[in-house]
Amino acid sequence: MHVGIIMDGNGRWATRRGLARLIGHKRGASQVKKVVKCCPDLGVKTLTLYAFSTENWKRAAHEVEGLMKLFRGYLANNLVELHGENVRVRFIGDPSPLSPDILILMEKLRSLTENNTGLNLNIALNYGGRDEVVRAVKAVANKVKTDELSVDDITEELFSAHLDTGGQNDPDLIIRTAGEMRISNFMIWQSAYSEFAFLQESWPEFSLAVFDKALQNYHARTRQFGAVVPKNTELAE
Ligand code: FPP
Repeated sequence: MHVGIIMDGNGRWATRRGLARLIGHKRGASQVKKVVKCCPDLGVKTLTLYAFSTENWKRAAHEVEGLMKLFRGYLANNLVELHGENVRVRFIGDPSPLSPDILILMEKLRSLTENNTGLNLNIALNYGGRDEVVRAVKAVANKVKTDELSVDDITEELFSAHLDTGGQNDPDLIIRTAGEMRISNFMIWQSAYSEFAFLQESWPEFSLAVFDKALQNYHARTRQFGAVVPKNTELAE
């Protein structure tokens, strides 16, 4: 099962307590560690975390710098632990505006863990769904231009393979914390048939119990992928 999480509400969680927003993000980063650890027990094979969007650069400079410092710390301090937990780490998004030292840490983590067989962890850093689609369109267009592909070769499968998540399953469930009910440019192509869970808890309040409840709720739903599936009672007959 693939779960995507829009980790929202760090700032509000901190502000409500009279704390600086960055304290909320710090708390958010420790939540990431906890959630990654519990995925195998919950039957989650792939986890995609929305850490920083292409729009997040518009935040105050000190908040952006604070978030970058947190990412740097997370990547550097969790390398051994993630590898030890058999986690395969990949990044989605456009890495080009990220600072060179962060790029080095990302590549180190990706290459160290690329043969791991446990949880697939995708960290969305400078990620935007529309940006990803545009980059994939450009990649396909370039292959058409150089005759590597013909226009008739372009199918949904071929296009999906050119996205940052190429080769991975689409998310089955997307969770957003902190009460907002929107997708905010997260996996807009891949979420065509995803189920959604909008939770009231903010990301710093997200717990194993909250995660488990959202997964149980998901498992109770019937997914039809546009087809008409007989009701359970009809199946039993
Ligand atoms: C949204 O909360 C959260 C973010 C923009 C940052 C997410 C980052 C983390 C959870 C920290 C570390 C992540 C990793 C992968 C180590 P918000 O600030 O928009 O909250 P608000 O809507 O209440 O202001």
